Amino acid sequence: MKELSTSHLLGIKDLTKNDIQIIFSTADSFKEVINRPIKKVPTLRDVTIANLFFENSTRTKLSFELAQKRLSADIINFSASSSSLNKGETLVDTANNILSMKVDMLIMRHPHSGAASFLANKTKTVIINAGDGTHEHPTQALLDTFSIREKLGSIKEKKVVLIGDIKHSRVALSNIFALQKLGAEVMVCGPTTLIPKYMSELGVKISHNIEKALKWCDVANMLRIQLERQQIQYFPSLREYTHQFQLNKTLLDKVDKPITILHPGPINRGVEITSEIADSEHSIILNQVENGVAVRMAIIYLLAGSINRV
Ligand code: CP
Repeated sequence: MKELSTSHLLGIKDLTKNDIQIIFSTADSFKEVINRPIKKVPTLRDVTIANLFFENSTRTKLSFELAQKRLSADIINFSASSSSLNKGETLVDTANNILSMKVDMLIMRHPHSGAASFLANKTKTVIINAGDGTHEHPTQALLDTFSIREKLGSIKEKKVVLIGDIKHSRVALSNIFALQKLGAEVMVCGPTTLIPKYMSELGVKISHNIEKALKWCDVANMLRIQLERQQIQYFPSLREYTHQFQLNKTLLDKVDKPITILHPGPINRGVEITSEIADSEHSIILNQVENGVAVRMAIIYLLAGSINRV
């Protein structure tokens, strides 16, 4: 079995190009499995996984759960709102209590950037980051790049633009790292106030004009305005944002070339993208969700090899 260079998945920054290629080829096999009449393999019958979600999730939580079930792992689900965190228990105590029940792997979504790395340093278990604050969302970037590879044949030398709220997006940073490691050219596009200054140090192109960005790209990954993470107002109104940065038919007709369209979800239909475009033939949004299960199966399977080594 091919091995990853890491015992955890904390961020794409820590992965090598070879790691990503191993994850993709393993996900190719699991995608074949989940399309069979019997969608399950007995591979992780002896493994117990806890899903720790301290922040809301639909796709990531359900996709991880399904991936674990398809691999025959035992799973337990932890929800912050009904836990003893409300009584003052720390994150590390919560994790160590769960691990005492002979749990082998923790998958965690947390509102604070760095929470997954913190827990990896404080516990002896395999950790998978399911999104930490505005930092990284590595499994999302892996399923996004896997889906682009599936649609276009490869990532190398493709031009990919991330459009929207780059500042508050963990999907953006993970996608930038993954796309660059795989040889794509990356651009970010949005209002000046929603593009952090450090972007220029990451070797990405920057645009504030969606029409020019679309003329440049092969792939557009549309990001939601993360109102829940904004402490101040970054643009005059949602109406003005929509007027300047919405992906819609009028704009795509003007650009007049096929562009593969992604969105990590949840979509705010009629804000960053119209329904017509989200549901169009060039959109691979639901392929992303399908591929998420195979990619997460691959990551869990590959990291299960590290369970007795951390
Ligand atoms: N893409 C994504 O992370 O969606 P959820 O917040 O629903 O998990």
